[in-house]
Amino acid sequence: MSDRPEIKPATGRLGILLPGFGAVATTVVAGVEAARRGLAKPIGSLTQLNTIRLGKRTDDRTPLIKDFVSLSELEDLVFGTWDPIPDDGYESALNAGVLERHHLDPMEDFLRSVKPMPAVFDKEYVRRLDGPNVKKGENKFDLARQLREDIRRFKEENGCERLVMVWCGSTEIFLRTGAVHATLEAFEQGMRDNDPAIAPSMLYAYAAIMEGVPYANGAPNLSADIPALEEAAIERGVPLAGKDFKTGQTMMKTILAPGFKARMLGVEGWFSTNILGNRDGAVLDDPESFKTKEESKLSVLEHILQPEKYPDLYKDLYHKVRINYYPPRGDNKEGWDNIDIVGWMGYKMQIKVDFLCRDSILAAPIILDLALFLDLAKRSGQSGIQEWLSFYFKSPQTPAGLYPEHDLFIQHKKLKNTLRWLGGEEPLTHLGLEYYEGE
Ligand SMILES: NC(=O)c1ccc[n+]([C@@H]2O[C@H](COP(=O)([O-])OP(=O)(O)OC[C@H]3O[C@@H](n4cnc5c(N)ncnc54)[C@H](O)[C@@H]3O)[C@@H](O)[C@H]2O)c1
Repeated sequence: MSDRPEIKPATGRLGILLPGFGAVATTVVAGVEAARRGLAKPIGSLTQLNTIRLGKRTDDRTPLIKDFVSLSELEDLVFGTWDPIPDDGYESALNAGVLERHHLDPMEDFLRSVKPMPAVFDKEYVRRLDGPNVKKGENKFDLARQLREDIRRFKEENGCERLVMVWCGSTEIFLRTGAVHATLEAFEQGMRDNDPAIAPSMLYAYAAIMEGVPYANGAPNLSADIPALEEAAIERGVPLAGKDFKTGQTMMKTILAPGFKARMLGVEGWFSTNILGNRDGAVLDDPESFKTKEESKLSVLEHILQPEKYPDLYKDLYHKVRINYYPPRGDNKEGWDNIDIVGWMGYKMQIKVDFLCRDSILAAPIILDLALFLDLAKRSGQSGIQEWLSFYFKSPQTPAGLYPEHDLFIQHKKLKNTLRWLGGEEPLTHLGLEYYEGE
């Protein structure tokens, strides 16, 4: 990396725009407000809780990340959303069933004040959903224009200095990158022609990028992961990150698999199944939306274990992922993993992981961190894909020709070393004795 960039200060209000105001989005909004009122701690958030080791082990310098690089304060955050379902933050959070009434009720007024703007929504791309709070437009270009107007209006009405956008909408059907995604020109023509390969999430990403707003994608659908938008982001100095928040089962996978590999243990099979009963589960019950999610979940092990480099250990790995919609569980998903590992002389062992998980509780701090770090990236003059934020994603977006890094520990090191670089400190290499350990 080159010389340390100048970082503009994080003064004024930061608007966090969330397309999709369901379980994860309401959980982050409510959690930020609860933290502001001193009612709950922002557990899981690196920007709020984590320290960073600077210099030598003997230097005894470990400030909080937020005291080391300039980040917006929680008090300065304002939330805006879009959703085809017109429920305000209180109703939507109640319906999502993630947070309990005793947490929501004291903040009812605040949550009710966050109301979704009419969405760009098309049932073709999310088949198990419908809602009345939807924009009408001549074509997709016109719809994107309306989103750009929303962005400008929101910024002005809320007195925001800066904005970021994090896609928290449903998983769209599986689409492949094609000619219409190749250049900005082709993409803009495609919007005018209502090309079916342009999904609503791409219109939000386009609108954000054209307005100079950093964009992160919390779902596995392509969205900004197309050459036209990546180029547009670089040209306009807009940071991007994606895709698919790394929570639950995949988080566990990217913790465990690097451990097996570090110990040169074989893995013969990894069977992952989930039962979940929230709206996301209902959407993923549609095979086309599931296919998008499946691609995102499957790539993880192959990249971590590198069967081509270690055929004795991983060449026969059988990896299966299932998601089953099971309404009684609501947002409290159960993720089972059966892992068949192989040790010395080929002896087999089994590991069972039964994670009684709360997906949105794991996703909320990711959204907060992404919003604050993307804003930091923008203030530091960074643009295009921010690979140092791969830590937060199941399917990290990478520049063309590069493979994604999935190992949570490598991702973590990259994130912290990038922060050190931004803050004008040496990266931690663990080489000299004095640099050893203690991140
Ligand atoms: N919960 C998690 O831990 C987690 C983890 C990884 C990824 N994700 C992804 O994050 C997304 C949100 O998850 P969730 O649990 O909040 O789901 P959810 O179903 O509760 O909320 C999604 C919301 O998006 C809205 N929506 C759909 N299309 C839209 C559009 N075009 N514009 C605006 N809003 C739109 C829906 O009406 C819904 O209210 C999903 O794509 C999910 O796969 C969630």
